[in-house]
Amino acid sequence: MEKRIAVLAGDGIGPEVTAEAVKVLDTVAAKFGHTFSYDPVLIGGCSIDRHGVPITEEALSVCKASDGVLLGAVGGPKWDTCPADIRPEKALLAVRKELGLFSNLRPTKLFPQLASASPLKEEIVAKGIDLLIVRELIGGIYFGRRQTVSTPEGKAAEDVMSYAEYEIERIGRVAFETARKRNRKLASVDKANVLDTSRLWREVMHRLSAEYPDVEYADYLVDNCAMQLIRNPQQFDVIVTENMFGDILSDEASMLTGSIGMMPSASLAAEGPGMYEPIHGSAPDITGKNIANPLGTILSAAMMLRYSFDMAEEADAVEAAVEAVLDAGYRTGDIMQDGCTPVSCSAMGSLVAERV
Ligand SMILES: NC(=O)c1ccc[n+]([C@@H]2O[C@H](COP(=O)([O-])OP(=O)(O)OC[C@H]3O[C@@H](n4cnc5c(N)ncnc54)[C@H](O)[C@@H]3O)[C@@H](O)[C@H]2O)c1
Repeated sequence: MEKRIAVLAGDGIGPEVTAEAVKVLDTVAAKFGHTFSYDPVLIGGCSIDRHGVPITEEALSVCKASDGVLLGAVGGPKWDTCPADIRPEKALLAVRKELGLFSNLRPTKLFPQLASASPLKEEIVAKGIDLLIVRELIGGIYFGRRQTVSTPEGKAAEDVMSYAEYEIERIGRVAFETARKRNRKLASVDKANVLDTSRLWREVMHRLSAEYPDVEYADYLVDNCAMQLIRNPQQFDVIVTENMFGDILSDEASMLTGSIGMMPSASLAAEGPGMYEPIHGSAPDITGKNIANPLGTILSAAMMLRYSFDMAEEADAVEAAVEAVLDAGYRTGDIMQDGCTPVSCSAMGSLVAERV
């Protein structure tokens, strides 16, 4: 099969980790008889430096015309003082909106080889952690009206959170369908004891739940869910929630596994290309040292093979290669353990590619 991939390497360690994912994709192409071509696209700070905006219309068109988008990370101290409308992060919101990426899948899986990196007690980790957060990505407070005004009492600011029924229903369906492909257990997270948006959320989820009687369904208030993730993460299989709650809970969940550098994500639309990126940022503190962990990006590329290209066997091969490299004791600095072999970012990418 032939596939065009838009590569948005971005800033900081973004170019370092995406280069390793491309290395692995090239091996997959050679091994399974596919042709992958890559269109490099500027995004974030590097686009601000070149074009004065965090992403250009032309760059968005390249993403739209692709079969899948691979993103590194954007941002860094150099652009922290840019005006709000041209901040690097604005580009991420633009791509999500332009491609209609309403559904963000974030798997949280503890690799047994890295169990000691988890901050949780050994007896909790020993039972294994494998859950998936389905986060609504283009609605809610991050996309609502916002303003700061001056009042006689001083400044006041507001951010409006709104959800329409159809927005809740479409993410709900993704979550129920995803649960069906896993352990048929879905937790829906809201704040229905306070928020109207959450009461509507719950109403729609309950209606959908009747259509999926084979999926065990439960409601959680977001504060309780945050606590339960630490107390007993094994109670969860799939979690579905709105944009801001999902942002916070998925970072919390990623920490259960010990390293942010290991975690992939997929952002999907009803149709058209999906976007795949590690959940970490541009890590300015380790940029240019060839020490970043590329596995989150490599596993994101595996999600692209699975969800956008329908290449399950190829995705399995990449995931198995990552496991094999960890089994062999190779570690980047962030996941280093006693008795293991330290490797650079590029060496880690090569080791995975060799084992695909
Ligand atoms: N999706 C994105 O592009 C995205 C996401 C989050 C933050 N950011 C941006 O990234 C910049 C830095 O943000 P931050 O420091 O809060 O978060 P960060 O994820 O970049 O870094 C947090 C810590 O984790 C480490 N780390 C991150 N990824 C790693 C990897 N692959 N291997 C090894 N260590 C890794 C970093 O060295 C740092 O110590 C900011 O400008 C922020 O806005 C971008």
